[in-house]
Amino acid sequence: MVEPDQPSTARMIDFWLGGTHHYPVDVAAAHAFEQAYGPCAPVFRALRAFLGRAVRAIAATGVDSFLVFGAGVPTLGNVHEVAPEATVLYTDVDPVTIRLGQRLLAGSDRAGYGYGDATDIGTIDPALLHRFVPGWGRRPVGVVFLGLAAFLDDETLARTLDELYRASAVGSHLAIDFDTEELAGHPEALAMMGPAFRMRSPAAFAPLLGRWTPTSEGIVAVSRWRPDGAPEEVPAAFHGVVAVRSAG
Ligand SMILES: C[S@@+](CC[C@H](N)C(=O)[O-])C[C@H]1O[C@@H](n2cnc3c(N)ncnc32)[C@H](O)[C@@H]1O
Repeated sequence: MVEPDQPSTARMIDFWLGGTHHYPVDVAAAHAFEQAYGPCAPVFRALRAFLGRAVRAIAATGVDSFLVFGAGVPTLGNVHEVAPEATVLYTDVDPVTIRLGQRLLAGSDRAGYGYGDATDIGTIDPALLHRFVPGWGRRPVGVVFLGLAAFLDDETLARTLDELYRASAVGSHLAIDFDTEELAGHPEALAMMGPAFRMRSPAAFAPLLGRWTPTSEGIVAVSRWRPDGAPEEVPAAFHGVVAVRSAG
C-alpha cells in the first residue's frame, strides 16, 4: 500500500488503542494533538469500551446484523469482534481506510467493508448491504455511528439520523456519540480540528436524535453508559447514547 501523506483520525485512533495499522504521519499528528490536549489513549479506550458495551447490549435484544458508519479501522474490539455471531457491514468514505478494512476482513464471511457516505445511505453498494445486513428495512439492525457526529453540521446530522430512522425497521437500535465542549478547554487542540469541527452539549445534541428514543441510560459520558463496575475516570470528552427505533 502506498504510504499516505496525510494523517487520518481513524488511524490516529488505531495508534492510541495500541494497534499496528497506522503510519508515521498519523503518529506525528497524534503526538502533536497530545501536546495540546494531554494523553488521548485513555479517552479512546473508554470510547472503544462504550462501543463494546453498546454493541453487546444491542445484540442482546436479538439484533444479529450491524451497519457501521465512519467505521475507521475494523480491529481492536470493533463491532464484529464483540458481536461474533452477527454479520457486520463497515462503511467509510476514506479510500485508504476502506482498502485497509477490506484487507483486514478479506478472510471473513460475516464482516465486510465498503464505501458509504453516512449522509446518503444510497451510496452503499446494495449487494454488500444485502449480504451483510440481510433484511435491511424489514428486520431490526444495529446502526453504529461513532466518531462521526463532530464532522456533520446540525442540519445534516438531524436529516441523516431521520433518514436512518425511516429506512430501518422497528426495533432497530442506534449507537451514537458526539464530542462535548470539554475540548474547548484546550484551544490549541481545538484549533487542530479545523473550523468545521462541532462540539455539542447534551442539551444541544438531544433534539438532533429526532424520533430515535434513548434507552433509560439517556445521553451520558461514554464511560458512564452501563459501565462494567466503577466507570473509568477519564475526561468527559465524548458523550454517547443508544436509541431505539420504535413504531411510527
Ligand atoms: C474519528 S474517525 C472514527 C473511526 C471509528 N468510528 C472509531 O470510532 O474509532 C471518523 C471516520 O469517519 C469517516 N467519515 C468522515 N465523514 C464521513 C461521512 N460523511 N460518511 C462516512 N464516513 C465518514 C472518516 O473517514 C473516518 O474514518
